[in-house]
Amino acid sequence: MYAIIGGSGLAKLSALGNTRRQVMRTPYGEPSGALTFGELAGREVVFLARHGYGHTIAPHEINYRANIWALKELKVDGVFAVASVGGVRADFGPGTLVVPDQIIDYSHSRKGTFYEGDGAPVTHIDFTWPYSQRIRKMLLAAAARCGEAVADGGVYACTQGPRLETAAEIERIARDGGDLVGMTGMPEASLAREAGLDYATFAVVVNHAAGRGDSRCAIRLEDLETVLRETIVRAVAVIEAALGETR
Ligand code: HPA
Repeated sequence: MYAIIGGSGLAKLSALGNTRRQVMRTPYGEPSGALTFGELAGREVVFLARHGYGHTIAPHEINYRANIWALKELKVDGVFAVASVGGVRADFGPGTLVVPDQIIDYSHSRKGTFYEGDGAPVTHIDFTWPYSQRIRKMLLAAAARCGEAVADGGVYACTQGPRLETAAEIERIARDGGDLVGMTGMPEASLAREAGLDYATFAVVVNHAAGRGDSRCAIRLEDLETVLRETIVRAVAVIEAALGETR
């Protein structure tokens, strides 16, 4: 069984058939919501809305540890993490789908490890390549089969939020090598690695990052919804195709 974590614009997976919900508790508290089990492309999947089903949990308030722990307890075969992002690179405009291959983490003050507290061993995970190459390839191969153009690789910069960035911050991120900017990629990805889960992000670009392209003067938040709605449908179709191949 694979897991899908839905971000903004994907609080409910309407393509999911035969659903049932299960409330889970973890040593780290409760996940963002009940886990929804159902079928996609004839495969059993579990879906979790990262921001809660009513989109009430801000990026810095998400209990990433509980979310990942719940998926670990379910022994999922892999995680497709859908995330909406701003495009830093000029060719990553609204509507672009990207399977990033690197991360720079600018977030802070988030509970980012399972290895802390009484009796926890000091543990360092390897995070040289933060995403599962297997899940990335599943997405890229499925996209190719669907005829959907998806960018292979890119550096995901994770900011703290919930505010959007300043133009200077985006300039700095670009100088650092960041291609995309979002608020929820970390510590989700590193916790997944700690938990031994195969995890990859499927990024949906919904706006030019602050100060770039048509966001030069401001990010028009009212425009994001439409792009998000249209692009998420394409992302879900690619995930569906990826799952269809796992038979
Ligand atoms: N910045 C950070 N997170 C985002 C953005 C952005 O421009 N767009 C969507 N999520």
